[in-house]
Amino acid sequence: MKHQQLTPFPDGFLWGASTSAYQVEGAWNEGGKGPSVIDKATFSDKITDFTVTSDHYHRFKQDVALFAELGLRTYRFSIAWSRLFPQGSGELNAEGVAFYQQLIDELRHHNIEPLVTLYHFDLPWALQEKGGWSDPATIDAFVHFARTAFELYGDRVNYWLTINEQNMMILKGDVIGTLPPGTPDPQKTLYQQNHHMMLAQAKAMIACHEMLPQAKIGPAPNISCVYPASSRPEDVLAANNFTSIRNWLYLDLACFGHYNAVAWSFMREKGYLPTITEQEMAILRQGKPDFIAFNYYASATVGADLPYSNGEQEAGKLLDQQLAGIDTIVYVGVENRWLKKNQFNWYIDPVGFRITARQIYERYRLTLIVTENGLGAFDELTADNKVHDDYRIAYLHDHIEQLQLAISDGVELFGYCPWSAIDLVSTHQGIRKRYGFIYVNRDEHDLKDLARFKKKSFSWYQRVIQTNGQNLSEGVDY
Ligand code: BG6
Repeated sequence: MKHQQLTPFPDGFLWGASTSAYQVEGAWNEGGKGPSVIDKATFSDKITDFTVTSDHYHRFKQDVALFAELGLRTYRFSIAWSRLFPQGSGELNAEGVAFYQQLIDELRHHNIEPLVTLYHFDLPWALQEKGGWSDPATIDAFVHFARTAFELYGDRVNYWLTINEQNMMILKGDVIGTLPPGTPDPQKTLYQQNHHMMLAQAKAMIACHEMLPQAKIGPAPNISCVYPASSRPEDVLAANNFTSIRNWLYLDLACFGHYNAVAWSFMREKGYLPTITEQEMAILRQGKPDFIAFNYYASATVGADLPYSNGEQEAGKLLDQQLAGIDTIVYVGVENRWLKKNQFNWYIDPVGFRITARQIYERYRLTLIVTENGLGAFDELTADNKVHDDYRIAYLHDHIEQLQLAISDGVELFGYCPWSAIDLVSTHQGIRKRYGFIYVNRDEHDLKDLARFKKKSFSWYQRVIQTNGQNLSEGVDY
């Protein structure tokens, strides 16, 4: 649809930016924090330093002051579960409690609305050792953790996110580190874990509504529209398969409380069906989100069979959360010749962003917020401490433009939080893959002075926020 007139971003729109605890805080073993699966993951020590990351734990006041200067109306961050509960459950760590109290107070002091993710990939190691999400006791531990967070911070936090990218944890369990290496029957195990996480999420949403009637809570999956490789009906069917398995399985359970039919039949065919009870399904039906948060980086394209496949099969490329991958009887990830790629081989597809937002809104009719969207790139700090990241400005410009088109299409959207507020360590590609508006001076293993420098995109986004998204194209002084 070509609009003659665009609908403006709503008043009070939550312009924000995001991070997650294990990627930004550092202080991995300070302040009484227990280890998480990330601290124990073997991939992390080889590529980069994960122990200090951006040192936000020690520098949060300076960082929040910069976020305020940027003009953020909301800041999305996650609570490190093992900072509150070093053992995953049991004794509460007072220093961890105090850290998030101070962070939230600092944000409030600057009129920045905290948007809190309860769990962003960093399961406490003590729980993982007992079976992690395969063990139903982890559901109770999560619910206890969530209730504690509501109790501690509920008077100052209005927006909560349950689990970040649960779909990626299941689809890419090997990349994210959800599953210990060598787990027998990994796929079946992951779908059982998925069911447990869904229950944990539903119970947390129920608890939130009981304890904090004024607060709002929702899931935060990674959702991408899926294109068929061609107009051949079999390819369209494959795209439909992948949409159900990648996207709707998770959101149907969260919003409707039922398993998506196509995803269910996929799991049955493959022998991945989880064990479920009627009582559990009743809980899933009862727990309802107030909104849907979604992360979007790129669209996906799939075909029905191997003749189409090309780039995605190259060695190493499958190890990435933004590539569809291959399941020969269901879908085959293929190249999309219409789209450009970033330096890390992820597609850049702003129109896909609009399509994705429309698809989610049309299906669930819940208000949306974008909790991640951004460009990972090799930024260069110049001799005079500048970062001329015009490529990031171009990416964000084109995506925000499409977001306004989605709003003009009728999509209800209340916020946009690009990834990331400040440079942080990527999930599996180190600090060299930078996303932030603020540069952090460190390399993979040489931590330098961790000084902060505003990038050109900082000034640009500041203007976007000041003008409520009406001034995307104007240049900025830098
Ligand atoms: C999402 C995650 O998958 O994408 C973030 O929620 C992550 O934690 C982001 O950092 C970008 O991915 P990557 O692999 O480039 O860090």
